[in-house]
This record gives sequence, structure tokens and C-alpha cells, in this order.
Amino acid sequence: MPVVRTLLSQLSRAIGRQSALSELRWMQQALSNPPPGISPACRSLDEMVARRVRGEPLQYILGSQPFGPLDLAVRPPVLIPRPETEDWTLRLADSLTPSPATPFRTLDLCTGTGCIPLLLCHLWPPGSTHATAIDISPDAIQLATENAARCGISTHAHAHASTHPENTFTPILADLMHLDFANQALLEPPYDLITSNPPYIPQAEYDVLPASVKDHEDIRALLGDTPSPLASGMPSQDRAKGLTFYHRIAALVGEHGLLRAGGTLALEVGQGQAREVAAIVQAKAGVDKIDVWKDPWGKERVVVARR
Ligand SMILES: C[S@@+](CC[C@H](N)C(=O)[O-])C[C@H]1O[C@@H](n2cnc3c(N)ncnc32)[C@H](O)[C@@H]1O
Repeated sequence: MPVVRTLLSQLSRAIGRQSALSELRWMQQALSNPPPGISPACRSLDEMVARRVRGEPLQYILGSQPFGPLDLAVRPPVLIPRPETEDWTLRLADSLTPSPATPFRTLDLCTGTGCIPLLLCHLWPPGSTHATAIDISPDAIQLATENAARCGISTHAHAHASTHPENTFTPILADLMHLDFANQALLEPPYDLITSNPPYIPQAEYDVLPASVKDHEDIRALLGDTPSPLASGMPSQDRAKGLTFYHRIAALVGEHGLLRAGGTLALEVGQGQAREVAAIVQAKAGVDKIDVWKDPWGKERVVVARR
């Protein structure tokens, strides 16, 4: 096994000495003391460093990523939860007050690791929310299921759990772009809260993303301008701007009554998209009070609307 000094200089050449020192320490910690429930992605420090030098995100190598007080399992190709998503999910949890007497049905579209609904389930009182989480990727649904177990949140094969004394999580493999999505028995509208961090990156921006993202994270988790027959009423320039999923989600809410009156819709958006997404949900989702929340870096990051 190469000595640590050699590994440090290899890693320093790739990411700079300061980052290399910190990352090497985290790698050593992950090997000697792996977080409970995480099977280590690597068996040795030299394997970890070799993967990192090849440009793989650190989180995949360590096998976990903090999300609020949770420590979620992550592995390729499921999108690594980002700090901006963590920030608005914590704020959303604080801004709403479900209780066991008036529990929320929560629907998270495009759930990935399950980070958004699992954090809400963790933070809200037991029996105050029953979350359904949708994703098109079997890898994501498998990982979200594992993360629920890891976070001690009960998983139900069916969403019919509204009288359960605990918070519950129901992960479902489904394509929200499918014509019949809203009519499937798996959904139980109306929901009190609908959340989503959908794919929103336009092709032109995707093309110039760093290899550390493109080579490891699922393209379906990122690209927001996929062609969809359901986006037929959408202005063609909106597809090129990565807005396809917002049109679809707004139509699901507006036409299919997915959100109850007084319910909340929270959508993460990409850079420069907030005003257009606000206009889309206002026109199609039948919502009125619309707010835009900024992320900790001052960027408009979430459109929050009430029906
Ligand atoms: C930007 S990621 C967000 C993941 C997670 N919510 C988060 O914030 O880290 C988008 C997710 O949408 C899923 N997705 C893409 N197309 C979808 C579709 N048509 N139906 C359902 N899920 C889809 C991807 O598999 C991916 O997990």
C-alpha cells in the first residue's frame, strides 16, 4: 500500500493541498469508523485516492452525505443532495406545522435519495406526515428505501397509511411524464404539500458541466429539457431553458387536483429560472400566493406557492 505521504501528494496535484489534507482525513475516518448502515464504497485509502484523482465526487467515495441532521447513503448514479436543497428543506420544515391531529400528505416528485421527504419526516412530530416519493430511476428508489431504514422512518409499500402513529415514507417507481401518471392508483390526492427538485439544467449548460458531475451523476437527474409529448402546450423556448418539468408539475397540480386548497407547492429552480417558474405555476397550477426564496448564496432558488 502506498504510504500516506505519497497519497497526499497524488491528491494534492488533483485538488490542491488544503483540500487534499481535509479529504484524506475524511477518507481515513470513513475507513476506520464507517457511519452505521453504510457499506464502504472502497476497502483501502489508495483505492479512495485513486478514484478521487480520477475526478469522482468525494461523497460517492465516502458513501454518505449529511443532509440537515441526517446522514444519507449516496452512490452513483443517484444525484448527491446539494446544500441549497438542504437549506430550503430545513426552512420549509420550519414554516409548516403539521401535527398528528392534522397530518400532512406529502408528495415529493423526483425524489432521488429521498432527501427532501425523509428530512421532513425526521423533523416533524411522529404521525404528522405521510410522504409518497416518486422517481423514474430504480437506483434512486432502492437508495431512498435504504435511506428511510437508515433514518428509522417506516416504509410502506402502499401510501394508505394516513392513520399511522409514525411518519411514513412510501417510495414509488414511476414516470411523472407518463400520460397516465396522475390516474395511477399509487397516488392519493389531494396532497397538503408537494415538493420537487426536478431536473432543470438545459442541454447547453449540461454540455459544459464539469466531468466530475457528468461522468458520475445520472443525466436523467440533471437534464431539464428532455422532449415530452406532455409538454406540447409549452413554448418551444421554455424547453431549451430547462423548464419542461415545471410545466408538467404545474399541469398535474392544476388539471388533476393533486394539491388541496390551502396546500403548499415548493419547487427548487436553477439559476435565473425563478421568475419564469413562478409565472408557469401561476398560469397552470391554479395557485395564488407565490414567494421566491433565496439560497444562502443569494440566488433565487425556490418557488413556494399556495393554492
Ligand atoms: C435533480 S434530481 C433531485 C433528486 C433529489 N430530490 C435531490 O434533491 O437531491 C432529479 C430526480 O428526478 C428523477 N427523474 C427524472 N425524470 C423523471 C421522471 N420523468 N419521473 C420521475 N422522476 C424523474 C431523477 O431520476 C432524479 O432522481
